[in-house]
Amino acid sequence: MAENLNGQILIIGAGHAGGSVAALLRQYGWTGPVLLAGAESRPPYQRPPLSKGLLLGKVTLQELQLKPDNFYAERGIDLACGRQAIAIDRVARQVRFETGEPVNYDHLVIATGARLRALDVPGNALDGVMSLRTADDALKLRAAVRKGLRVAVVGGGFIGLEAAASALQAGAEVRVIERESRLMARVASRELSEFVAGHARAHGITIEMNASVCRFIGTAGQLAAVELADGRVFPCDLALVGIGVLAQQSLAESAGLACEDGILVDARAATSDVRISAIGDCSRRPVPLFERSARLESVHNAVEQAKQVAARLCGKPVTAAEAPWTWSDQFDLRLQIAGLISPTDEVVMRGDPAAGSFAIFHVSQAGVLRAVEAVNAPMDFAFARMAIGRRLQTPPARLRDPTVALKELALN
Ligand code: NAI
Repeated sequence: MAENLNGQILIIGAGHAGGSVAALLRQYGWTGPVLLAGAESRPPYQRPPLSKGLLLGKVTLQELQLKPDNFYAERGIDLACGRQAIAIDRVARQVRFETGEPVNYDHLVIATGARLRALDVPGNALDGVMSLRTADDALKLRAAVRKGLRVAVVGGGFIGLEAAASALQAGAEVRVIERESRLMARVASRELSEFVAGHARAHGITIEMNASVCRFIGTAGQLAAVELADGRVFPCDLALVGIGVLAQQSLAESAGLACEDGILVDARAATSDVRISAIGDCSRRPVPLFERSARLESVHNAVEQAKQVAARLCGKPVTAAEAPWTWSDQFDLRLQIAGLISPTDEVVMRGDPAAGSFAIFHVSQAGVLRAVEAVNAPMDFAFARMAIGRRLQTPPARLRDPTVALKELALN
């Protein structure tokens, strides 16, 4: 085994990243003890469907579990749900939890994820003001949404737009309130933002851009309206706040690990302490293809870093990082985004947005394909993702030309 491990691998955080690293450690041959401790009361589950399939009642929580119930016991993984870690003692190599005895580790994996950014305005604790991060949040939201309900969604990012589409499909009246001048500005280009806004409006969602909520107004403790900074007041029965997330890094910070909007890790997910790794939404990692670091909030990143840690701890080679990617489903749209978008890149459109299936490419000034945003174009996406990983250099005209097969470009 690498790094002379002989004791316990302790994983704190039982989300997609934590659950994956536990499973991969066994898959890659680690035979020592593994304790997977998560603050939530459930075993690891997939979060992306919470704002769509689960809200619409198309999937059950059971179906969202990352692994079947008996998986952990069968593989000798000690799964401890409802255990909130409160401190890391790096000298004693121990983690203290809110309840119970401190737990020793030989190697610690921090997979604590992200926490919701709070909307700090009066009235945010009224009944009817909700958020969506956990399965419990999604179940609460699902129970509340019904035909005719007036829903204000604060934040036009992934959570807001997916939940807005689901609520509308469930018969609610939906208004999205976005602070910026366009939707999904964190991850999408202006071209994609505009297409998505047009599509959402065509389905009946009202969108307010450049709009700041200054307070929620209640009657007898129950939400009744939302007020914007420009004085407009919109009556509503439910508000869903989805204004982004912050890395859950306080445990690492208090323990003196290097953090900077995320726990800093290297290309193998090791922190500044050789005995501690950090993976998933809580970490800030190098993105070698883009020669920069980033905090990547995606399932792909969680699994890629889980593989890096499991391989490293099991003495196996760590595979090269792929182009980061993520996706979002809204109404009949499947949005898939790979690479990182830069405002200095040239934007190249392939296909016709009016036809509902197209891809937007982003090409650097040096002519290298850096990112793709595909809308209902999964094959274009798949080949473009591959091509980004290979730093494909090609004239934009060839990407734009529908008679040029992307497969040829990506594989040659
Ligand atoms: P986000 O960062 O994607 O979007 C937040 C949005 O809220 C942005 O458009 C931002 O401009 C806006 N905003 C910020 N402050 C605001 C304010 N005071 N008033 C109005 N708007 C404001 O984060 P989001 O949507 O909350 O998602 C949270 C996390 O969940 C992210 O990590 C996201 O990637 C993840 N997620 C991923 C999904 C997927 O991959 N399909 C689906 C749903 C969530």
